[in-house]
Amino acid sequence: MAEATDQWTIKKLLQWTTDHFKKVGGENTRLDAEVLLAEALQCERIMLYTRFDEVPTNDSLAKYRGWVKQRIAGEPVAYIVGHKEFYSLNFAVTSSVLIPRPETEHVVVEALEAVKTITDRPIRIVDVGTGSGCVAVSLAKHIDACKIAAIDLSADAVAITGQNVQTHDVADKIKCYTGDLLDALPAGSRPVHLIVSNPPYIGRSETETVEDSVLKYEPEMALFGGEKGTEVIQRLVTQAQGMLLPGGRLIFETSPTIFDECLQIIENSTLKWEKSIKDYAGLKRVIVAKKAS
Ligand SMILES: C[S@@+](CC[C@H](N)C(=O)[O-])C[C@H]1O[C@@H](n2cnc3c(N)ncnc32)[C@H](O)[C@@H]1O
Repeated sequence: MAEATDQWTIKKLLQWTTDHFKKVGGENTRLDAEVLLAEALQCERIMLYTRFDEVPTNDSLAKYRGWVKQRIAGEPVAYIVGHKEFYSLNFAVTSSVLIPRPETEHVVVEALEAVKTITDRPIRIVDVGTGSGCVAVSLAKHIDACKIAAIDLSADAVAITGQNVQTHDVADKIKCYTGDLLDALPAGSRPVHLIVSNPPYIGRSETETVEDSVLKYEPEMALFGGEKGTEVIQRLVTQAQGMLLPGGRLIFETSPTIFDECLQIIENSTLKWEKSIKDYAGLKRVIVAKKAS
C-alpha cells in the first residue's frame, strides 16, 4: 500500500484495497478487503460502515497491510484471518483443512431433512472427511439428540475439528477419529442412520482445471479423490452399504464433472438413489442414496 499524505480512514482504506485487488485480478474484492480490515480492527464486518471516518491505529494498519500483501500473493482470506463462516457458524480454519464452501451447506440441509423422517433417538451419524468439522458441528447444533462420529485421514485436520467441536460446545455429541473412511470407526461400532460426506473428488487428470490458489494453499488430501476423482467415493459407497441401518441414508457431495459416474456407482451398489441436489450455481452437486428398509 503506497504511503499517503492525507490520512487513511477506514473508508479510504477499503476503497484503495478494493481497487487494488481488482487491478491484480481478484474476484470478491470488496468483501475480501472488508473481512481483512474487520479482522485487523477486531470488529464485525458490518461495524466498518459505522466507522468510515475513523483512522485505524498504526498496529492495526501494519497488520492489515501485511494481510493485503498475503492476499495479493494469492493466499485465501480464510487462511489469513483463520476462520470462515459456514451454515451461519464461524469455523476455525488452518492450511490443514479445506476452507468450507457454501455448496457443502446442501449436505447439511439434506441431512436435516432426512432427520425429520427418523424416529429413533439418539440419531447416529458419521461425517466422513470432516476437515474443519463444519458439517458435523452444524448438524450437532441443529439436532437435539444425536451422536456423530467425525472422521478424517489427516491427524492435523482432526485437531482443527476438535477445536471447532469445543468452540461450538458440542463435545457431548461429536467424537473425532483419525483414519481411512469408515475403517476409522472403533471395532463393533453400531450401524448408523446417516453417513454424510464431502469427500475429496477432484480427479488427478483434471488438475489443470483447478484454481492456482486452491492447488497452492489447500491440502492436497482434501482435494484429490484418485485419478478420475471417483475412487474415494467408490470405496465410501462400498463401505456405507454395511454401516447403514435399513432405511439409512448416504448423503454426499461431488462435482458436476463426475456426477453421472457417481450415480452409476450408486446404481451398481445395494443402495437406491433417492435425490440429486443442485448447488447455488445450478450445478449438480449432492446425491442422497438410501439403504432398503
Ligand atoms: C473436500 S474435504 C471436506 C472437508 C469438510 N468436510 C468440508 O466440507 O469443508 C475432504 C476431507 O476428507 C479427508 N480425507 C481424504 N481422504 C480421506 C480418507 N480416505 N478417509 C478419511 N478422510 C479423508 C481430507 O483430509 C479432507 O479433510
